Amino acid sequence: KSVLVLNGPNLNMLGLRQPEIYGTMSLKDLDQICVDAAKDAGWTADCRQSNMEGELVGWIHEARTDFDGIVINAGAYTHTSVALRDAISAAETPTIEVHLSNIHKRESFRHHSYLTPVAVGMICGFGAHGYVLGIQALARMADE
Ligand code: DQA
Repeated sequence: KSVLVLNGPNLNMLGLRQPEIYGTMSLKDLDQICVDAAKDAGWTADCRQSNMEGELVGWIHEARTDFDGIVINAGAYTHTSVALRDAISAAETPTIEVHLSNIHKRESFRHHSYLTPVAVGMICGFGAHGYVLGIQALARMADE
């Protein structure tokens, strides 16, 4: 089985961008952690990042036929994008929302997510480990 791991806008800047909030790990390192976590679960991971909403929408659609689950950190689009939410609904593929930071202890505009109501669950505040938990949750659900 395979998981599509999606990172949205500005997450290519991981390691450089506000390290006090997001840590010093690069996106490349994060992707490797996801590949390893998937492997441990007997899955494969395809990790992609885009700064463009439409590109993320297209990738989510691909999951309908090509993936068994999605782990997505939509970055700021989390708080703005009805299009990503509709794409997740259309994909009919179990989707886990993740955030590196605890969005609920930050600015109030980060407290609302358009994605949570269409996700299986949401994990935030655990850095890269949140992605690992998301992948493990998908694998466990698929086994049940
Ligand atoms: C984020 C939280 C968002 O509010 C922010 O816009 C991001 C990253 C996180 O991983 O903590 O870009 O999704």
